[in-house]
Amino acid sequence: MACFQFCYAAATASTIYPRCPDMEKKTLDKEVLAAVQRIPLLSLAAARILELTARADHTLTDVMDVARNDAALTARLLKIVNSPVYGLLEPATSLERAISYLGENLVVSLVLEDTIGSYMNKPLQGYGSASGDLWKHDLRTAIAAKEVALLNRDRCPPDVAFTGGLLHDIGKSILSEFLKERYQEILAELARKEVKDYVGGERELIGIDHARVGYELARNWGLPEVMQMVIRYHHEPSLAPEDLKTVVYAVHLGDIIAMMGGYGTGTDNLFYRLDQRYTDYLVVGPDQMGMLMLSVEEKFNETVETMQMH
Ligand SMILES: [Fe+2]
Ligand SMILES: [Fe+2]
Repeated sequence: MACFQFCYAAATASTIYPRCPDMEKKTLDKEVLAAVQRIPLLSLAAARILELTARADHTLTDVMDVARNDAALTARLLKIVNSPVYGLLEPATSLERAISYLGENLVVSLVLEDTIGSYMNKPLQGYGSASGDLWKHDLRTAIAAKEVALLNRDRCPPDVAFTGGLLHDIGKSILSEFLKERYQEILAELARKEVKDYVGGERELIGIDHARVGYELARNWGLPEVMQMVIRYHHEPSLAPEDLKTVVYAVHLGDIIAMMGGYGTGTDNLFYRLDQRYTDYLVVGPDQMGMLMLSVEEKFNETVETMQMH
């Protein structure tokens, strides 16, 4: 597991910036929270699907019932399942058949892309990342979190881990606007070891970090508590409520696996710490990690092709 050691040393910022004064931090903190309030609410279908998929006992039929009431989503699912990627001999004409082929995770990914894709696909100037990078990082994290959960399925619902992975970094899309001319300051603080990780740098500079921003957005959207907690504690899983720690650790681990696979979101890549206490909640042996990473790579490439993400 040596490759899981966190990395501070790669900071290359050469310019030393002054620290942000406390007064300015408080102002930005309020501005960030005001920006969260301005984000529109989720569509009814998206809110309902997220609510459903946060429940460990939901079924694919429940998801179908919601999708059936959304004509645009139904049309998109049918278009995808009948695309050459699936190579069906007979075209699928019913939603039931389409969803059975595609599976729940792809349906949730498409719903989120349709609803909040404008936040997840935009370039994050505050993190130095290009259009689509955040979405790919989220998807990779979701797939990795699910793979981790599948190894621990008796205590960690895989589909909940997947959806949590998709949403975990949503706060970056808002915080990016406040970091865009200043992220070099975080890199400089990391290089000077004045902060221990990137979220610490965000708090130092802005007064709030992307995990808290995402949590506030999740609360505004009325997302289920498990999603709120995954988002809030994905970098500090030991602070999550005890009954949700397993799924929070699965997303925490999935996030690191995504970054190690080369799918971070830019300047912050691998400037986060792995909480080694994940072993108290999850069993992922060193022998399983290699297989898991290969499986993540394969499933990620398949999903990107299916969703026609480039
Ligand atoms: Fe994060
Ligand atoms: Fe992340």
